[in-house]
Amino acid sequence: MKTIPFSFDLTPGTFIPTAYDNYIRRQYSALKGQYLDKAAHEAIIAAGDPLSYEVYEIRRPELTGEILHGISILHPGKVGDEYAMTKGHFHTVRDTGEVYMCLKGTGAMVMETEAGETAVEFLVPGRVLYVLPNWAHRSVNLSADEDFVIFFAYPGHSGHDYSTIEKYGFRKLLVERDGQPTIIDNPRWGG
Ligand SMILES: [Fe+2]
Repeated sequence: MKTIPFSFDLTPGTFIPTAYDNYIRRQYSALKGQYLDKAAHEAIIAAGDPLSYEVYEIRRPELTGEILHGISILHPGKVGDEYAMTKGHFHTVRDTGEVYMCLKGTGAMVMETEAGETAVEFLVPGRVLYVLPNWAHRSVNLSADEDFVIFFAYPGHSGHDYSTIEKYGFRKLLVERDGQPTIIDNPRWGG
């Protein structure tokens, strides 16, 4: 881990950092129970369980005062008529925010609070999103053929709580209707 300030580049085209020391990859099976069309999801897993997204991080101590940052690359795909998405999470320390900047592709951030507020922000290259503290967040790739690449930065002590989302999913889902991204209510909530 570096002990003096440092900078790095993003590889042209892919946006993979030229320096990183943590790499996470998630296949479709990592989102078990999250996609609405369970049969379509099982079929994709049975057909080879392809890679859905990758995260490149610059490792830093998970401490207050540090800022964890990196790049997430969400590959295009659909499960039934639902767009490829990340697992999504709350931060374990709820009152911690996160900054995103879209570098490539077309996508959205689906967000909600435990109190039931919801928000969806659409992202294209150059657009910056601030996820307020206490809002769970999940990214979605709305393109049929292009990676959705975002830069993220969040407080070092935030932690990740995936289990709350794994239970019911998000209250809102992004599906394709008449060729357009459409926000629908998740039937697992309040059904
Ligand atoms: Fe986060």
